[in-house]
Amino acid sequence: MKTIDDLGDLRGKRVLVRSDLNVPLSHEGDLVTITDDGRIRASVPTIRRLADAGARVVVCAHLGRPKGVVNPKLSLAPAAARLGELLGAPVAFATDTVGESARAVVAGLADGQVALLENLRFNAAETSKDDAVRGAFADELAALADVFVSDGFGVVHRKQASVYDVAQRLPHAAGGLVLAEVEVLKRLTVEPARPYVVVLGGSKVSDKLGVIANLLTKADRLLIGGGMGYTFLAAKGHEVGTSLLEADQIDTVRGYLAEAEAKGVEVVLPVDTMATTAVSLDAEYGVVPSDAIPADRGGVDIGPKSAELFTTKLLDARTVFWNGPVGVFELEPFSSGTRAVADALTKVDGLTVVGGGDSAAAVRTLGFDEKAFGHISTGGGASLEYLEGKTLPGLAVLED
Ligand code: 3PG
Repeated sequence: MKTIDDLGDLRGKRVLVRSDLNVPLSHEGDLVTITDDGRIRASVPTIRRLADAGARVVVCAHLGRPKGVVNPKLSLAPAAARLGELLGAPVAFATDTVGESARAVVAGLADGQVALLENLRFNAAETSKDDAVRGAFADELAALADVFVSDGFGVVHRKQASVYDVAQRLPHAAGGLVLAEVEVLKRLTVEPARPYVVVLGGSKVSDKLGVIANLLTKADRLLIGGGMGYTFLAAKGHEVGTSLLEADQIDTVRGYLAEAEAKGVEVVLPVDTMATTAVSLDAEYGVVPSDAIPADRGGVDIGPKSAELFTTKLLDARTVFWNGPVGVFELEPFSSGTRAVADALTKVDGLTVVGGGDSAAAVRTLGFDEKAFGHISTGGGASLEYLEGKTLPGLAVLED
């Protein structure tokens, strides 16, 4: 994979950088707040490096899934402002993706200046399944630049115009963030130090089927919590009340449990559960045994005994990968399990990787020092697909 060094002298060159600026926002009337700017901060070093090299930096990114429709709530304008603060220099913002505004903003850049294009997904062609449609959009993006740097690790699993097709149209390189992420994930797949423990949470089992199947051949222990944990409890024959349940996955999960046993992979499930009548602070809630969740209650966190159990099962690890919070950590009374997992990771003597999206946001929202973890990935889906052993289009296209 070529690096920025391989691109030669960038002074005066227009460099299109694909970053992942897909950050959580909260809206109160007209006030928009970025609730976790981790991905913007992670994008800064590559952008700064290119600007310092005298390039005219054109950053492009997506926010949410607007499905080809302009949605002001998903504008990247707040990200441009935050990026400017972090860079210590203004970031020019184009109010479209490849139109008049984009062309004018790019034409107005001086050496070392940075611009950001509006949300790429406001244009349906960005995510089109039709190669020709995507290709035509990639042509227009490519016309804005002389070279392309792929640095949006969180999106390299998507075969999209700004991730895949544009790299086929311009001299290209992987940015520092993509290189760093791949380097760490490689360490999880090639002879990880053992015990190798994986914590999986988040809402859906169906999102994690591929990775679970793969981890059963790699990990020594799987700790399962979060919404997906209830399908595992159901597969063991327990009633899960109103908890999230993917009934159509129960048989698959039973298969995994049997395979884990045959392979000697330990699967650890919550032994107690914080259960509530509604996912709200006004609801009635309390801790119940995981095999006796009342019919009118649903699980929103692992209970204290499980938090202790998960901690014990993590402390002797030499490699840990964690994807997905084990509870609704955004609400304080349901955050203890996720906090306990994060805390245990900070005490592990070995490589700890927090995989993307919600778990990365959880670590920061709960006030942990990012430096206490080996690596906090910016890619949730991307890191899972990498660990599944899949070919990621946005990485494959850079391999030439
Ligand atoms: C993410 O949030 O994982 C990335 O930004 C990719 O977003 P997507 O799942 O909407 O493609």
